[in-house]
Amino acid sequence: MRTRLANRLSVVAPSMTVKVTALAAEMRARGVDVVSLSAGEPDFDTPAHIKEAAKRALDAGATKYTAVEGTPRLRQAVAAWLAKAHGFPVAPAEVMVSAGAKQAIHNAFHALLDPGDEVLLPAPCWVSYAEIAKLAGARPVPVLSRPEDGFAIDPARIAKAVTRATRMIVLSSPSNPTGAVFGEAALRAVADLAEHHDLWLLTDDVYRGLCYGGARFVQPATFGPEIRRRTIIVDGVSKSYAMTGWRIGFCLAPPEVIAGMATLQGQSTTNAAAVSQAAALAALEGPQEDLERMRAAFDERRRLMLAGLRAIPGVTCVEPKGAFYAFPDVASFFGKQTPAGRTIRDDVALCEHLLEAAQVAVVPGSAFFAPGFVRLSYATSAANIEKGLSRMAKALAELR
Ligand SMILES: Cc1ncc(COP(=O)(O)O)c(C=O)c1O
Repeated sequence: MRTRLANRLSVVAPSMTVKVTALAAEMRARGVDVVSLSAGEPDFDTPAHIKEAAKRALDAGATKYTAVEGTPRLRQAVAAWLAKAHGFPVAPAEVMVSAGAKQAIHNAFHALLDPGDEVLLPAPCWVSYAEIAKLAGARPVPVLSRPEDGFAIDPARIAKAVTRATRMIVLSSPSNPTGAVFGEAALRAVADLAEHHDLWLLTDDVYRGLCYGGARFVQPATFGPEIRRRTIIVDGVSKSYAMTGWRIGFCLAPPEVIAGMATLQGQSTTNAAAVSQAAALAALEGPQEDLERMRAAFDERRRLMLAGLRAIPGVTCVEPKGAFYAFPDVASFFGKQTPAGRTIRDDVALCEHLLEAAQVAVVPGSAFFAPGFVRLSYATSAANIEKGLSRMAKALAELR
């Protein structure tokens, strides 16, 4: 029988980050000494008190379905955690728990976007917004910011991209892949735009705890009640608590939107795993010292990676101020030849070459609407960063 996949798959691309990471893992399984600077997850283990809480929860019966929106206890804790972080009251009815921030975004897009709707994506930005929007039938509209502006969002460009079909603006600060942390003035201008054109603002805050060198995270919903009403906040424990594998993310939205998302989730995964919800509760309510320990370690690695990248001739790099990625410009190598005589046409070819010739895995910038760049993750040991960068420098120096 010929397999015919559904049409909806023709519009969606698999995640390039996941692909590169899988390829690197597969090479490693074959015994190749690959340095992976591609993964979007902390290399730290989940803090011990969180794992202990999960073990206890299992013995206490966290083995059953929970409410679709999450256990009442966790929803309450998330509401309190968000209220404390942002300084405005949050009701548990405005909160929903999902299997990762990614599912929360999936739910929000499918609950709010219709075919033909446009979603503005200040970019470079995370791969998945565009693909999930397309799955919902909507049209992603990237609005590029510039390295010479430190990849800050440009409200004037965003304003120009608004049409009658625009329904939502998606902001992610600190940014994956650029590490930019958006400033208050620009965020206020985007919030005004959302109010003026009656748009939803979805902010993906999964990296908000990871800011460095004095950069400050600003949540637009704090600007006033009108923007608070139209802001969907996505957050979670994956990145800041080193809990990627537990699959817990949250969404804050008006109760009627939460109800729509609960209908969707109720017909897909039902609830996030009960034991993971118990672990997330322990993360939010337990000691918070590990967060600062991990943030400080990332900051040190960030400086190491930035200095290493800037020392490579032909590479320029904006200083990342948050998350755990650097996003150097590598366009000066395009058109050059490898020792084997292959011409490096673009970022994808460069990443392939780095993996094959130097056994370093990095992600092409085109996965983030920025083809002249590559993304390197510094959520790995200092030794790995140094080894990866020295291999990369050598392979780039051999291009003619
Ligand atoms: C910007 C951004 N949002 C969301 C996610 C997904 O988070 P989660 O693992 O909680 O689904 C990622 C993961 O790479 C990300 O980079």
